[in-house]
Amino acid sequence: MTFSPRPHRDFIAETDFSREEVIETLALARELKEVAGIRDTAEHKAIKGQTWGLIFHKPSLRTRISFEVGINQLGGRHIYVTDQEIQLGKRETVADAARVLSRYLNGIVIRTFKHSDVEELAKYADIPVINALTDLLHPCQIFSDLLTIYEKLGRYEDFKLVYLGDGNNITNSFLNLSAILGIELVVATSPDTLPDADCLARAQKAGVSKVTISHDPFSAVAGAHVLYTDVWASMGQKDKASQKEQALRAFQINSALVNKADKDCIVMHCLPAERGREITDEVMDGPHSVVFDQAENRLHMQKAIILKLLEG
Ligand code: CP
Ligand code: NVA
Repeated sequence: MTFSPRPHRDFIAETDFSREEVIETLALARELKEVAGIRDTAEHKAIKGQTWGLIFHKPSLRTRISFEVGINQLGGRHIYVTDQEIQLGKRETVADAARVLSRYLNGIVIRTFKHSDVEELAKYADIPVINALTDLLHPCQIFSDLLTIYEKLGRYEDFKLVYLGDGNNITNSFLNLSAILGIELVVATSPDTLPDADCLARAQKAGVSKVTISHDPFSAVAGAHVLYTDVWASMGQKDKASQKEQALRAFQINSALVNKADKDCIVMHCLPAERGREITDEVMDGPHSVVFDQAENRLHMQKAIILKLLEG
């Protein structure tokens, strides 16, 4: 029997979706949230009989659990594997692993270091591949954050978002989003912790949003509707923690900074947080914080992304 590749869609970067598709996915996530909510125990058939592989080379609470629960709620099953088993690119090429996995699974969710490994996997797999975080991007997070922003502000465009801290995968993903939806995005960071130069250039060149870099956190947050932060040292960079802390101390989200933003601003963090570093307890547990709504929305958005990809 010959094996002919099936047409399929991947979600590797925000820009894999058009503006229209982003908005449709947002609507789908809202519908799923309304119908299923959390701890849904109803029987669903959307992906009944399907088995999805979760390949995680880095730790995860939210992404892993929300995908596992989401896949199960949609009627499918999952297999979770770490780098101890597959050793992507070490025991065999990424391409060969992709070809083999395509013959067992209905979809792959992968979290790893090198973004190019995920691109390679998607290139050679003939089933949907979803990027669950690389050193470069975290698109599932940014899509679910858009759901939270929509719920809190009542709009998914025309707001000012100031990202404070390390120019990392979260920052790069917001830069990608700003090339699709019209927002004002300010990345407030030190000259030594800038985001990916290509993502920044593409976002600015797209001309969809106003995108700037600031080294002055207090002036950056003026009029901001959303303040966002993330750990200063990402997974795989913990050896640079003290260097990053020195560079980024002034970019901590604390009450003094929140008071300079719009009075109704929301404060976001993808979590896990290093409380007392990039964000104070007072802010994280305070009235502007929406961090746990963000975490919940991961579940609804993961399901929406899977369904959207399967729509073709
Ligand atoms: N925000 C997020 O992706 O969390 P995890 O690393 O716990 O999955
Ligand atoms: N920038 C963080 C995000 C964690 C969800 C990291 O990559 O570790």
